[in-house]
Amino acid sequence: MHDVAITGTGVFTPSQVISNQELVVAFNKYADLWNAENAAAIEAGMVEAKTHSSSDFIVAASGIESRYVLDKEGILDPSRMFPQLDGRSDDEPGYMAEIGCDAAQKALAMAGRSAADVDLVICAASNMERAYPAIGVEIQQLLGAGGFAFDMNVACSSATFGIQTATDMIRSGSIQSALVINPEICSAHLEWRDRDCHFIFGDVATAAFLERNEGLARDHFKVLSTRCATQFSNNIRNNNGYLRRTHDRMEDRRDMQFMQNGRKVFKEVLPLVSQHIADHLADTGVEASTLRRLWLHQANKTMNDYIGKKVLGRTPEPDEQPNILQDYANTSSAGSIIAFSKYSNDLDNGDRGLICSFGAGYSVGSVIVEKG
Ligand code: COA
Repeated sequence: MHDVAITGTGVFTPSQVISNQELVVAFNKYADLWNAENAAAIEAGMVEAKTHSSSDFIVAASGIESRYVLDKEGILDPSRMFPQLDGRSDDEPGYMAEIGCDAAQKALAMAGRSAADVDLVICAASNMERAYPAIGVEIQQLLGAGGFAFDMNVACSSATFGIQTATDMIRSGSIQSALVINPEICSAHLEWRDRDCHFIFGDVATAAFLERNEGLARDHFKVLSTRCATQFSNNIRNNNGYLRRTHDRMEDRRDMQFMQNGRKVFKEVLPLVSQHIADHLADTGVEASTLRRLWLHQANKTMNDYIGKKVLGRTPEPDEQPNILQDYANTSSAGSIIAFSKYSNDLDNGDRGLICSFGAGYSVGSVIVEKG
């Protein structure tokens, strides 16, 4: 068995930002337009008028202040409310491959490695832009890497499940290194016209390079232990797939985008995640009090505050549990890796931390690391 380390991480951040204020102005214009168009039906009590969104609600309910997106114009156009990301031709790189490559190259540069050092590419994300060929294989080709590649989807937990998969292969000796890449174009599977969730997501891509921990000259994080768990729930769901019910028109199906029962998610996922982390730490013999930092999934500030307090048994200092969701919003599987990538350089040798992501499935994945 071989020891494994994360030697590089990378983040692709889109250049376009939408503040809560801009988002709410666009949403409210859309709601006014819709109400005007449906005035007679509203008057007759056949449909409910759409109510305005509010920046204050968004910050208070989620902690989100802005989000990065690949196309701001289409999202903020009140007559469209959807990014203008036309499907690419078969001869062009896909969007996910393009942004995934950017993050992967940054991770390789940090690790001091090149594409020739990559044995495996896993594209682990919550939604794929096509069924096949795998996005991972396209990224492998764009990078010029050898070996093999595949896609995996465990929604918001995809990154940690990908890290466990890569770690197990490196440990067993079937590969020496892997890139786990999380391109998340959440803006393309979010219903921007739904007030309850229009503020939740943003776009980003992250990557982590893992390799055998043998004679590493550079800074790295040893992977001490990984653990994944799932428990079926319909409370976060997207029904977009290849089956249709007779006479259904895709554009009439709200369930073809992200749907959630946010309150239930809140109530059910928090105990699941807290217990998962407690069990993982206990079984690995790592005391929570020795953890220098938690890099948690970035969906909701209140959720992270709760989990941090449960894990450490006290309110974590901001530097012990850094949040990035105020700037990036929820970026699905990428969130905990953005936090890890941006807030890990200052740790000292021997410092331990925990990466944890959770979400639809339900699913939860945790990775205990130690700076080496
Ligand atoms: N602007 C203003 N008011 C809004 C609003 C908006 N954009 N969206 C909802 N509201 C209103 C609701 O209509 C409701 O009004 P009411 O009390 O009069 O009925 C009130 O605000 C509370 O709505 P609710 O949906 O219960 O809010 P919440 O406090 O549960 O927060 C979430 C909503 C989604 C932010 C929160 O439930 C959450 O983060 N859940 C977990 C999400 C999660 O982790 N999901 C995983 C995704 S991968």
